[in-house]
Amino acid sequence: MAYDVVVIGTGPGGYVCAIKAAQLDLKTAVVEKQATHGGTCVNVGCIPSKALLHASEMFMEAQHSFADLGVEVSPKLNLKQMLAHKTQTVEQNTKGLDFLIKKNKIDVLRGTGKIIAAGKVSVTDGDGKTQEVETKNIVIATGSDVAGIPGVEVAFDEKVILSSTGALDLAKVPGHLVVVGGGVIGLELGSVWARLGAKVTVVEFLDSILGGMDSEVAKQFQRMLGKQGFEFKLGAKVTAVAKTKKGATVTFEPVKGGDAQTIEADAVLVATGRRPYTEGLGLSEAGVELDQRGRVKTDAHWRTNVPGIYAIGDVIAGPMLAHKAEDEGVAVAETIAGQAGHVNYDVIPGVVYTSPEVASVGKTEDQLKAEGIDYKVGKFPFSANGRARAMLHTDGFVKILADKATDRVLGGHILGFGAGEMIHEIAVLMEFSGSSEDLARTCHAHPTMSETVKEAALATFFKPIHI
Ligand code: NAI
Repeated sequence: MAYDVVVIGTGPGGYVCAIKAAQLDLKTAVVEKQATHGGTCVNVGCIPSKALLHASEMFMEAQHSFADLGVEVSPKLNLKQMLAHKTQTVEQNTKGLDFLIKKNKIDVLRGTGKIIAAGKVSVTDGDGKTQEVETKNIVIATGSDVAGIPGVEVAFDEKVILSSTGALDLAKVPGHLVVVGGGVIGLELGSVWARLGAKVTVVEFLDSILGGMDSEVAKQFQRMLGKQGFEFKLGAKVTAVAKTKKGATVTFEPVKGGDAQTIEADAVLVATGRRPYTEGLGLSEAGVELDQRGRVKTDAHWRTNVPGIYAIGDVIAGPMLAHKAEDEGVAVAETIAGQAGHVNYDVIPGVVYTSPEVASVGKTEDQLKAEGIDYKVGKFPFSANGRARAMLHTDGFVKILADKATDRVLGGHILGFGAGEMIHEIAVLMEFSGSSEDLARTCHAHPTMSETVKEAALATFFKPIHI
């Protein structure tokens, strides 16, 4: 039987694409080699890490801020239960996906998918049995894998030398965790283990953590992590990660020159980025072109150079974010169905789920400067917000950047408790090309943390009230 669409990979890009295609009455199948759907995000990424981040944040709050609220407790870590909570959370999500895939009458082809040619996909299951299916369209949604450190041999054993997967499943809290890479994964998973009692040292190549984020936000955030006990070695290039009898060592060189240093660790998390996953997909045989960084090359409509073959998510260019992949999945299904699929790449929020959270959408101040755009900036601190004081979440601020001439909001950055939820009102505003005055004149419920967004908008177009 011929399908309208076969989607290879059921991460957030793939399964969302398949559901949307089925909703649009396209005969749809998905190919998945893992036992569960959801890809990295649901199984070993976004979802399990958020379960651990939430649980460890509660542990930290119980130790440090409950007493100030008049709640006396003596918290004790039950790591086994915390990990069980994580596993249950993942299971609830994968079961949910099974339900959605069934509900939408999507066929599941279990095994490894390979593109034979446009219109033809083979699927080989665990027993080596292969079936071939015909389809009008193929969507590659195979995601990404751990990149490792270019030029450095890293022998991941997921016990001492960890990727993000192993760092979600340690049987005991390491005494000293060295994190290679001060990006999103390093800081999120570093936070989990720091809150549970590990000493965490982050070794980062760049001069700042969270490269690419607004540098003012990144600097303040680094100070806050420092107060939580994080140690940072910035401008430091890791050149070796070795296992020892007692644990491991990490060797790094100052980027600007100088002597190499070696530090000892009980565990090392290598979080130096991810790379597109295309192994075994048959792309070169099918004639699908890759770019210089190994990503599947696509046009503005997610079409590869081979008619009828599309690609979305981490395997193509752009930020490696689940929600970017999901939106591409919807848009490509709409495109295949003859509709006008579209993703606005200028308005993709990014959130780091640490404590406090860091959230951003649109341009950073650094980008506006580099691009020579005349802008104005409005800021407001959570320390001046009543709700934040009531909840003891006064760290951080909201920053809004708007075009100087038109007042159109070009970017929003939030460092603070709940930033990942609040960022979306700025994203919606930007989708509608709104101004800082539009945002400031929108009535915000009192008392809410979100009033800080309103005040920052007021500060952008005129003056805030409460400072
Ligand atoms: P990343 O690209 O965010 O950070 C990697 C860091 O490692 C960079 O700062 C880089 O300068 C540093 N680095 C590279 N080589 C190094 C070396 N030899 N020595 C020292 N430092 C070195 O990558 P990460 O954190 O591994 O995340 C992978 C992807 O997953 C990213 O695209 C990220 O956006 C995504 N992700 C997103 C999350 C979220 O949205 N909350 C959560 C987790 C991952």
